[in-house]
Amino acid sequence: MTTGIQVEGLVKRYGDHTAVDGVDLTVPAGTVLGLLGPNGAGKTTTVRMLATLVKPDAGRATVLGYDVVTQAQQVRQLIGLTGQFAAVDADLSGRDNLYLIGRLLDMPRRRARERVDRMLERFGLTDAATKLVRDYSGGMRRRLDLAACLLGSPRVIYLDEPTTGLDPHSRNGLWATVRELVADGSTVLLTTQYMEEAEALADSLVVMRNGGIIASGTVAELAGRVGGRTLLLTTASPDDAGELAAGLRAQLPGHQPDQDGDQVRLPLAHDEDLAAALQAVAAATVTVTAVDTRVPTLDEVFITLTGAATDAEPERSQA
Ligand SMILES: Nc1ncnc2c1ncn2[C@@H]1O[C@H](COP(=O)(O)OP(=O)(O)OP(=O)(O)O)[C@@H](O)[C@H]1O
Ligand SMILES: [Mg+2]
Repeated sequence: MTTGIQVEGLVKRYGDHTAVDGVDLTVPAGTVLGLLGPNGAGKTTTVRMLATLVKPDAGRATVLGYDVVTQAQQVRQLIGLTGQFAAVDADLSGRDNLYLIGRLLDMPRRRARERVDRMLERFGLTDAATKLVRDYSGGMRRRLDLAACLLGSPRVIYLDEPTTGLDPHSRNGLWATVRELVADGSTVLLTTQYMEEAEALADSLVVMRNGGIIASGTVAELAGRVGGRTLLLTTASPDDAGELAAGLRAQLPGHQPDQDGDQVRLPLAHDEDLAAALQAVAAATVTVTAVDTRVPTLDEVFITLTGAATDAEPERSQA
């Protein structure tokens, strides 16, 4: 396994507040790590240290083997960081800006033109390509920033809440571009508040809270920590559901079926419990009209692990 990003005991203090409190991360090259956590957890501060924008107070981090403190210059050449692209010229069109960046990155003219057109398309900027950037809307500027960041196919990419406020076309364009770059070996650190995005892109997840890591693993592993499958049984009426729940309670000691309208939910701690549960359902006097199972959603996992709803806090601190 080639290591993309390696972080050991990283700490950042602001006054007497510890924003990042001893974080360890390993992101294999060519994979996406999703960094989740409620507002103020320390995600952006972590990204900023890995981007050499903020100096750690303790610990060590390397990006493709380069130390973010002692080899900051090398690290900067490897990374694409969204939200930081100051080099966009407001008096040039979106296309000219991107083309200039491509040429600065030593792309041959033709390759630069092709790549620029592709990025414009991906981020819904084709129609606005010849418009001056100073006349772009806020959302268009953000999309141009993402296009500029990803144009040169950086080997390491930091995306800090990249799709917040993005329209669906641009969101899909970003996801497609990220998947392509990862398939080509790029390493991605993604922070997001959207569980759907984490599920769509991340190979593994780390959940932060109060500057520390409280959980990590794949989506399935985190879901497993919160609980196994739930068996969902639909009946013809709430009365039937009540009767079914009582029957199951009697037949399945140690299980806690729960009535919700005309449905009964039966959490199964182990997948092996499913067969016994279905036998009990078959033996019931009540007619069951539909049977379904579901695993916990990442949202439920997040809320259980952090004790916070993803949108519970109105305050936003953006990088
Ligand atoms: N420059 C700074 N000066 C002082 N405190 C800071 C600074 N930057 C961040 N903090 C504090 O560090 C903590 C972590 O902030 P950070 O921005 O890393 O959180 P986050 O996980 O990115 O949150 P969000 O989901 O809101 O983006 C917060 O308590 C924040 O107030
Ligand atoms: Mg943040």
